[in-house]
Parts: sequence; C-alpha cells; structure tokens
Amino acid sequence: MFSRVMFSRVLRSAVSIAHSFCSSSQSNTKVAVLGASGGIGQPLSLLLKKSPLVSQLSLYDVVHTLGVAADLSHIETRAQVTGYVGPEQLPEALKGSEVVLIPAGVPRKPGMTRDDLFDINASIVATLADACARNCPDAMLAVITNPVNSTVPIVSDILKKHGVYNSKRVFGVTTLDIVRANSFVAELTGLDPAQVNVPVVGGHAGKTIIPLLSQCTPKVEFTEDTLAALTHRIQEAGTEVVKAKAGAGSATLSMAYAGARFALSLLDAMNGKEGVKECAFVRSEEGECTYFSTPLLLGTNGVKRNLGLGKLSAFEEKLVAEASKELKASIRKGEDFVRQRATEGEPQ
Ligand code: 2OP
Repeated sequence: MFSRVMFSRVLRSAVSIAHSFCSSSQSNTKVAVLGASGGIGQPLSLLLKKSPLVSQLSLYDVVHTLGVAADLSHIETRAQVTGYVGPEQLPEALKGSEVVLIPAGVPRKPGMTRDDLFDINASIVATLADACARNCPDAMLAVITNPVNSTVPIVSDILKKHGVYNSKRVFGVTTLDIVRANSFVAELTGLDPAQVNVPVVGGHAGKTIIPLLSQCTPKVEFTEDTLAALTHRIQEAGTEVVKAKAGAGSATLSMAYAGARFALSLLDAMNGKEGVKECAFVRSEEGECTYFSTPLLLGTNGVKRNLGLGKLSAFEEKLVAEASKELKASIRKGEDFVRQRATEGEPQ
C-alpha cells in the first residue's frame, strides 16, 4: 500500500534533493578536522556541523573521536559526521577532503610562550601535513596549532617536499586576533561589535600581532595612551586567557569560533561568493618576512589577491619593524625543523 506516510517521505526526499541542487547556500564539501577531540576541535566541529556548506565532516584524533562523532551526528543538520581514530585511520579521514582544519597539539600553560610549544607541536603538525600531502594534496589547509608563526612554514615545506605546495591554499588562522580586536574596540567605544572590523597583520604571537587600529571601520580615535594599552591587550589577549584558565589550557571556545569563521568564509569563497575577505598568515611578498598575515581576498582557489598592509600610521610602522626580527626567527625555526627532519630520515 502506497500510504500517505510513504508519499510524504517521497515528496520530502524529492524536495530535499531539489534543495541541495538549487540552493546557493549549500555545497558538497568534505571538511576534515585534525585534532577533533581536543578543546578547540570539539567546539570547532560543532560549529562546522551547523553549516549547510559542509556535506561531510571528517573528525580525526588519536583518542575519543568515535564518541565526538556519534554525539555530533545526532544534530539535525545535513553534514554526515565520521570519526577516525589513530594514525592508521588518518588517510581515510583525509581522502576527498577539500578543506582541512588543524587544531591538533598541546596548549600553553601559564608562563609559557607559544614558541615553548614548538618541540611537541612541530612533530604533530609535520606528521599531519605529510598525510595531507599524500591523501588530499589539493585541499585548503588552515593551521591553528601553535606556534602558528612556525607551524605554517613547517606545513608549507612538507608540502613542498612532496611537490604539492600551493601557497594560495595554506593559511595560518589568525582570525582570533581580529575577533579580539573587534570585541575590545567595541567595549571601549560602545559600538556594536558586529559592526567593527580591525585588520590585524603580522603573525600570531605577542608583539608579532599587529592590530591596524588606524584602519578600523567604522573609524575610531584613541588617545596615545589608550592606543598603546589597547594594542598591548590585543597582543597579549591569548595570555590573558591562559592566566585565567590557570593551567587548564588556552583559548578554546573563542578560537573555535574564530576557526569556524575563517573556515566558513573560505567555503563561501570556494563556492563562488564574491568579495570575501579575511586576514590570515600566508606566504607573502608584502614585507621583509616570507610569511606574513594581511587582509586577503578569498576566491574559489584560496587566496585570490593579497590586499597588503594599506596605509600605516607611524605607530603601526614601528610595530611592524619591531615584529620582524621575532617573526623571521620563528619562520626560520620551522624551516630548519623540516630540513633537520629530512636529514634524520623521517618520511617526507
Ligand atoms: C590564542 O591566541 C590559542 O593562540 C591561541 O589564544
């Protein structure tokens, strides 16, 4: 008997097929999260599960991923969630992925700099980059793992060794610096944070984080002292969270929000939306450093155009000059690590 229930099921599936082909707000993109069981990975995966731009959400970690995937899979959105555990399942997690987000690694404890994480996180990121090169060489890679100023060069050089590096597809996620700058400016001025946009350039550690408050929209004016204090707060905002968490890690929820904002902007641009802009730490010819964060116009193939630094105030020019030594050293540290790894016979 072709019941009313069956009829309505057929109708519903016809409608949903039609919807998935017709709506410009949907896409069939497989997105992988590497480090999906962690403090950032879980809320990041949750935010991605909500997006109609994600059709498959591939969650990888060394523990607990099946539980995280089972949990998220009950949410009534279209993304199909699959969990993968341990290195032997990593290739399967990555195959077919068009966007890979990498929050894997350990966070800071009070008193540590992001660079203090290098010894542990560099190897983790290198192993993951190696697997990406083998299994999804054309994917967009968004690196969250700290120290971002070194891990982005590591990922880039590993991809180069495999002959699959495309500088327009590798990003260090610095979005949290923009998110923080927007929030703090809104707090000080009474503006709606959703309307504030502060470009933040440079890198993602201490004084390499350079908010361009002179380019804030809407335009804001601060006294010299407030400008200096606000700049310092934005540069040290990660440490503010590390101290407040008192040993329980660093920013996870705001970082997940920022990572998701970046990923969704990228997915929008990959799906043909025009005018999508985000700052990110990328291979760059905009200054003296070979990697530098600036506003980017995103497109179907990643970076469409680097929008550069724009006009800087004298104060900001000084910040850029002061950041350069530390940034260059962090980049070199990442590059040296990959060279050293090759001489030690690690798989490339
Ligand atoms: C932060 O800025 C975790 O690097 C991250 O808080």
